Amino acid sequence: MKNIKTYIWAILGFFLLFFSSPIFAESNSGGNTAEAIIEVIVAVTVFFVAFILWLALVYSEKNDFEGKTFLQPFKNFMQAINKSIPIEEENKILLDHDYDGIKELNNKIPPWYNAIFVGTVIFAVVYMINYHVIGSGNVQEDEYAEEVRLAAVQQKLLSESGKLIDESTVKFVDDPAALANGKEIFIKHCAACHGLKGEGLVGPNFADDYWIHGNTAKDIFKTIKYGVVAKGMPTWSSQLSPNDMQDVGSYIITLRGTNPPNQKAPQGKLYKYDENAQKGAEDKGKKKNI
Ligand code: HEC
Repeated sequence: MKNIKTYIWAILGFFLLFFSSPIFAESNSGGNTAEAIIEVIVAVTVFFVAFILWLALVYSEKNDFEGKTFLQPFKNFMQAINKSIPIEEENKILLDHDYDGIKELNNKIPPWYNAIFVGTVIFAVVYMINYHVIGSGNVQEDEYAEEVRLAAVQQKLLSESGKLIDESTVKFVDDPAALANGKEIFIKHCAACHGLKGEGLVGPNFADDYWIHGNTAKDIFKTIKYGVVAKGMPTWSSQLSPNDMQDVGSYIITLRGTNPPNQKAPQGKLYKYDENAQKGAEDKGKKKNI
């Protein structure tokens, strides 16, 4: 019988050790939470199964109606961690001084207290070897660097998907696919008012250097996004994605100087052509490092 008990305790201890690692391990980024939860559930289940087995064992052994056998291991455990002296033997550790009737017992430091102290020392050694010598754990600095790296990847994905494009980040895109997309959108949505070649109809001509609302990629994006509703230029933000608005705005910029037939008379202000300002070349370098 004794052997079986030892056996059950051993299994219990093993499972607790084995499964406690994911409970106490800091979730390393990218760690699988679902897996950790399953391990915890398995550990708890194993614990309860072992507990029930042990109960069955205790009760099959003798008629433990007062629960003495049942409680004995807990009592032993408490005694082991406290090593307290029973009240009857207190006079053995009574110190000989007496201050106004206040006496002092020379109690030992309880083992649980020492165990915590020794435990922290052992933990520190293991921690140092793990994090600073082998380097298998991520120290705070590495964790930070990893987070920054992930954020950069995320930002890159977002900016590639066009979600980050607005009037402050928009730029001229010099990419044939984007410009072809811009042209398609232009013909579908804009040509009715701005002419098939951007020569201008109801809306202004895009081939000249005259602009009512500004000629930079940012100005043009803003006009497209918010429209000039009072003057008949619709708002496009609800119909076109930021990416599409950037593409069609870039396409418009490429129409400059194409000199299409039947051009509408200039409207707005004459802008001195400045490629850098219009195509936003000066922020290209800045944007690259995201
Ligand atoms: C219903 C007609 C209409 C449609 C469709 C239209 N526009 Fe316009 N657009 C106008 C008018 C009118 C103006 C001039 C607004 C003003 O006078 O302030 C204008 C102005 C503009 C301007 C500013 C020009 C400047 O001189 O500052 C841009 C850029 C522009 N449109 C782009 C587009 C794009 C891109 C589309 C298609 C996605 C489009 N428009 C579709 C009527 C239209």
